[in-house]
Amino acid sequence: MENILIIGAGGQIGTELTYYLRNKYNAKNIIASDIRATLHSDLMEGGPFIRMDAMDSRQVYQVIQKEKIKQVYFLAAILSAVCEKNPEMAWDINMGCLNSVLRIANELKFKMFVPSSIGAFGNTTPKDKTPQLTIQRPNSIYGVTKVAGELLCDYYHEKYGVDVRGVRFPGIISNVVPPGGGTTDYAVDIFHKAIKYKKYTCYLKEDTYLDMMYMPDALKASVNLMEADYHTLHHHNSYNITAMSFTPKILADEIKKHIPEFTIDYEIDPLRQRIADSWPNSMDDTAARNDWNWSPDFSLEHMTNDMIQILTERFNRKGKDV
Ligand code: SER
Repeated sequence: MENILIIGAGGQIGTELTYYLRNKYNAKNIIASDIRATLHSDLMEGGPFIRMDAMDSRQVYQVIQKEKIKQVYFLAAILSAVCEKNPEMAWDINMGCLNSVLRIANELKFKMFVPSSIGAFGNTTPKDKTPQLTIQRPNSIYGVTKVAGELLCDYYHEKYGVDVRGVRFPGIISNVVPPGGGTTDYAVDIFHKAIKYKKYTCYLKEDTYLDMMYMPDALKASVNLMEADYHTLHHHNSYNITAMSFTPKILADEIKKHIPEFTIDYEIDPLRQRIADSWPNSMDDTAARNDWNWSPDFSLEHMTNDMIQILTERFNRKGKDV
């Protein structure tokens, strides 16, 4: 069994990916790392954990060499709304770390997973059934780092043969770790508020379509792509993947089927609305379906049912924070 390093293991995707990989493989081979020294005890004690600053390329090199790492899931990144408040930091973290880990991958020869996002698209991108290969002129610094990251991964793959793979994630919905500062976060927060207060104030307009995905599908996609036969991959990086596309109103209507007294109102945040308006309504993920058999398990109905059941049970048990 190869040793796998997760960089950014304390993040929204990193936390659940760490649990998923520890369950799927041998936990001792899954090395979680994060800049934060205090994270949930399950994450820090359920398998090897290393406190590592992904910006410190010497430390990253030493860890990868010492632990004989053969696969890296690179999940250290800042989400769109936070990036917009500090573009310089966004570039340094989203691009600087990626650049140095790719260089190390070329030298020490390991496989990498690097996620991109719907944020890699912009206003001039076709909005419906957004193709795999299309115009990418994002207007957010997050998007700029995502497009540059996609290109850098392609470059390392084509020029040096680094086996770096990735998907374009839509908004990810989870009931474990809350996201931090994304444009798509309303689709997580709405569940918490629906269960606790029976009402939610949304910062996006009611008719804003965005692609979304439930976390179990996001984890499955990441690992399936890493396990796919190299020769079947025509794109390697930045595969469009999606599971559902909805607006805040459609999601609210779905929640009302479970919580009839639930109400939603709107107070638009211009920053996040501008970002959301520039992203696709729905992506075409045919390339991922054809090349590595991508197919989601969770529809809007199935995801909503699962989220409400899990969060309600937790709320009833704890009585406050869900
Ligand atoms: N979920 C991310 C965000 O909203 C997009 O990939 O920033």
